[in-house]
Amino acid sequence: MSKIKPSQGAPYARIMGVGGYRPTRVVPNEVILETIDSSDEWIRSRSGIATRHWASDSETVAAMSIEASGKAIADAGISAEQIGAVVVSTVSHFKQTPAIATEIADKLGTAKAAAFDISAGCAGFGYGLTLAKGMVVEGSAEYVLVIGVERLSDLTDLEDRATAFLFGDGAGAVVVGPSQEPHIGPTVWGSEGDKSETIKQTVPWDEFRVGDVSKLPLDSKGDIKFPAITQEGQAVFRWAVFEMAKVAQQALDAAGISADDLDVFIPHQANMRIIDSMVKTLKLPEHVTVARDIETTGNTSAASIPLAMERLLATGKAKSGDTALVIGFGAGLVYAATVVTLP
Ligand SMILES: CC(C)(COP(=O)(O)OP(=O)(O)OC[C@H]1O[C@@H](n2cnc3c(N)ncnc32)[C@H](O)[C@@H]1OP(=O)(O)O)[C@@H](O)C(=O)NCCC(=O)NCCS
Repeated sequence: MSKIKPSQGAPYARIMGVGGYRPTRVVPNEVILETIDSSDEWIRSRSGIATRHWASDSETVAAMSIEASGKAIADAGISAEQIGAVVVSTVSHFKQTPAIATEIADKLGTAKAAAFDISAGCAGFGYGLTLAKGMVVEGSAEYVLVIGVERLSDLTDLEDRATAFLFGDGAGAVVVGPSQEPHIGPTVWGSEGDKSETIKQTVPWDEFRVGDVSKLPLDSKGDIKFPAITQEGQAVFRWAVFEMAKVAQQALDAAGISADDLDVFIPHQANMRIIDSMVKTLKLPEHVTVARDIETTGNTSAASIPLAMERLLATGKAKSGDTALVIGFGAGLVYAATVVTLP
């Protein structure tokens, strides 16, 4: 017989507020064409991307997160001191330790909230959301701040035709808090580590540090390239189109709803053709609003879903109380899908 008192949380959890931050600098495809042999038409038609935002020196991972979080906290109608945990999903914070979440928790003015980073690539928002829901329901935090933030421009090889045009920078945040009704459905998530080579960092930090020019990739000037994210575009594309539509359907089934019950679809913003294909496979009815933020934001990995969610709400294309299917997928390979009620 256990002597331990059970923890007490809320019956359910919900997203209470959302906020986003996009860096000031807008980068059109013409800038990408300075370093790769491509065309505006090719980039638009193959990826759907017209512009992306790239961060300036002052738009750090912490600074963008704080901006997005401030909006999410205000939108949730709570104060920073009420936040019990800060979860930051990022792959582009350059210090191995400490986690950037602690600095963000401090600068936001939380009351010593628990704070940690997670690494789940483009599924990072869904992973963070799932952890947050668990914390609220289990009772270890009443309100949890989930941040997806990336400065992927720091990890982009501008001479790599396969990725130079894809990535963008930004931060998106949500506050998850208590609810009397289920407003975050069961998460369908998983990993396929046998495909870990399909999206990866070109060179591990230790090999980069050794600096052996005979082994490291060099740029067109003959200098050692800084590590960047590389991918097997077609393999990832096929996986996303075939496997992720199934995962999205499983998330609908797990939530006990059909595509007809949906108001909004917010897939990871990886490629407009992947989005179009998923819409078709899932047979989403006309009335479902589909996030197509990739056109002006590019692929911002962990930030992409909260950024797209914030924009749909801000532009009136979606409204508070709408039922939305969110799905993230990427490096790992990992994925996470769930149905949520929009804040
Ligand atoms: C990257 C991506 C847009 C490339 O599109 P694609 O249609 O698969 O392109 P391919 O690599 O098959 O190349 C097709 C052709 O375009 C050419 N090409 C490749 N990159 C090019 C570029 N930047 N500009 C112009 N042509 C290019 C290739 O050389 C090839 O030419 P060929 O047919 O004469 O051999 C696409 O694969 C993709 O979006 N993949 C998934 C990305 C993703 O979701 N990543 C997840 C991160 S979370």
